[in-house]
Amino acid sequence: MSGERVIGLSVDQDETARWSIELERAIATSGRPLKLIPDADPATVDYLVYNIDGGVTEFSAYTRLRAILNTWAGVEAVVGKVSWPEHVPFVRMVETGMTEGMSEYFVGHTMRYLLDIDRAQGQSSAGVWQKWTPRLARHTPVGVLGLGELGTATAGKLAALGFPVHGWSRNPKALPGITCHDGPEGLEKILKTSQVLILILPLTESTRHVLNAQTLGLLPKGACIINAGRGPLIDDDALLGALHSGQVRHATLDVFATEPLPSDHPYWRNSNVTVTPHIAAETRFDTAAEAILLQIGRDLDGFALQHVVDARAGY
Ligand code: GLV
Repeated sequence: MSGERVIGLSVDQDETARWSIELERAIATSGRPLKLIPDADPATVDYLVYNIDGGVTEFSAYTRLRAILNTWAGVEAVVGKVSWPEHVPFVRMVETGMTEGMSEYFVGHTMRYLLDIDRAQGQSSAGVWQKWTPRLARHTPVGVLGLGELGTATAGKLAALGFPVHGWSRNPKALPGITCHDGPEGLEKILKTSQVLILILPLTESTRHVLNAQTLGLLPKGACIINAGRGPLIDDDALLGALHSGQVRHATLDVFATEPLPSDHPYWRNSNVTVTPHIAAETRFDTAAEAILLQIGRDLDGFALQHVVDARAGY
C-alpha cells in the first residue's frame, strides 16, 4: 500500500486537543504512513476517529472512508440514529485502560459489599465497637450480566478472588472458571443465585429494563446491584421499590437514563444507593489512541477489524 493515509477527528470539541496529542504519539510509535488532520476535508479522510458529540450524523462527504473508530464503548446513541455506509466498519472502543478501569470498579464495589465497608464506616463514625464476621468470597455468588470484553475481564478478576461467578450473555459462551448462562432460562438461573449482581450489558431493545419488578423479585433477598452498563437496563421505579422493601439491600449506579442525574432524582437521597458520575470506565486517551492505531494497522495489513458494530444486533 503506498501513500499516506489520513486520520480525521470528529469528537467533542473540548476533547479534540487531547485526542490529537495522543493520536500523534501513537502514530509516531506505530511507524505507519499515517497523518492526523483533525479538521481534514471529509473527502480526504481514510479513518475517522469519531463520537456523536462531534456533530457528524451522516457520512456522505466522507467518500474514501475505510473505517469509523468510535471513542466510546457504548453505541446506543448511534445505532439506528446515524447511518454509515454498509462497507465501512464502525468500530466500538475496546481498550485496556477502559477494561482495567471498569473491572476494578466492579471488583472494588463487590469487595465493599463483601466486607460491609459501609457498616465499618458507620460504626467507626459513631464510635461503636461491635464485632461481626465478614462473609467469605467463596460463599458469595456474583452474577455478571454481559460477557463482552468488560464483563469477561470483570468475571475473571472476581473468580480469581474466589467468588463463585455466573455470567449471562445473549449468545452462549464458555469461559474458564465461570458458570455461563444464556437466554431467558439462563437469566432466571443467574438472578436466583446472585448475591451481588453486576450489569455490563449493551443497551438494546432486548436489554432495556432487563431488571424490572419481576426480575428483581428473583434475586435472593438482600442482594446488591452494581450497574455500570447503561441506565435504562434498569426500571428505576422497580429498583426504588425493591430497595424500599429490602429485596435489594444496596445499589451502586454509575449510569442513568438522564445524565447528569437530575438533582431531584430519588436516587440522590436514598441511603441505600451510591451514585457515581459515569466514571466507571472512562476512555483513557493514551491507551485508546493505541487501540485505534491497532485497528488501523490491521486494516493497512489487510486483516479484518475487530469489535465491529452489528447494527442489527444493536451493539
Ligand atoms: C462509556 O460509557 C462508553 O460507552 O465508552
